[in-house]
Amino acid sequence: MNQEITAGELNTRRFVEEKVAEIKAAAGAGSAINALSGGVDSSTVTMLGHRALGNQLRTVFIENGLMREGEAGRVVELFDRMGVKVEVVDARDEFFHALSGVTDPEEKREAITQTFYKRVFGRLVRESGSKHLLQGTILTDIEETVAGIKRQHNVFEQLGIDPQEAFGYRIIEPLIQLRKDGVRLVGKALGLPAEVFDRIPFPGPALAARVIGEATRERIETVRKATAVVERLLAGSRAFQFMAILHEDRVTGMRDGKRDFGLQVELRCWDSIDARTARPTRLPFDLLESVAGEIIREVPGVVSVTYNIAPKPPSTIEAV
Ligand code: XMP
Repeated sequence: MNQEITAGELNTRRFVEEKVAEIKAAAGAGSAINALSGGVDSSTVTMLGHRALGNQLRTVFIENGLMREGEAGRVVELFDRMGVKVEVVDARDEFFHALSGVTDPEEKREAITQTFYKRVFGRLVRESGSKHLLQGTILTDIEETVAGIKRQHNVFEQLGIDPQEAFGYRIIEPLIQLRKDGVRLVGKALGLPAEVFDRIPFPGPALAARVIGEATRERIETVRKATAVVERLLAGSRAFQFMAILHEDRVTGMRDGKRDFGLQVELRCWDSIDARTARPTRLPFDLLESVAGEIIREVPGVVSVTYNIAPKPPSTIEAV
């Protein structure tokens, strides 16, 4: 069932037909819910789900306060153009409350997982009477969780968690046999625009995975601004993924002739096929300097910008 389908052996037309039939069979006459974040995996699942279930599927965008700049509006508009209605659910207070005082990476992930699945989704599912949550878990998520590298936000069964028991609903995972490159092909076959199926990956814990230490509203805002700069300036780099990370330590800098004990942002940019291994992209130094200059100008408080040059492994793609 969960046997890998590589991008090379994937027949997208047959895959879509099979998964549409499986989703229909799993949901039966009942309704289902899915959370769309705007990333490749959840966008592809949304299109598959809509093919299978039409109006029986309710698609929500959970505004957790941890997403990239302007994301909710962008996602709603994009899917509206494809005839899919997306509802925005504002859960910012709940997420920041759960993250308050939490600094350990795994505890941060756990706080987000619990808030997402138990509180926000638990409530939506109870209110709507749905029994199913459709979700874009992919093979790499499972492998890295099982290997104990990181606990992915959306992996349960392999950790011995029964979603039915823990949250009161079943999870349908149509992309579980694919890796990112396969998902992109399926997304394209389902008519998603290139800005979605070619979009760089973004982690489930969102910008909280890019803040070392406590993810407060203020610190998330800082990394959000830095992310906007990095994504704008590296859009043409053709790298697999790029990101800004806010460090916890402060460093001495100077601004307007005065000492400024300021923030440090780390830039990461990766070459990779499937995220299992990755190497830092050999970006031109001029480009690195432009990114640093723009971050320093646009993001208040930043006095230092570094570039990560360690490969995965031993590094991981995200910092938290
Ligand atoms: P790592 O950081 O484990 O990331 O090398 C591998 C790929 O998965 C993406 N991704 C996540 N990473 N937690 C993560 O740590 C998540 O919940 C998650 N969801 C997706 C990550 O961006 C990278 O492409």
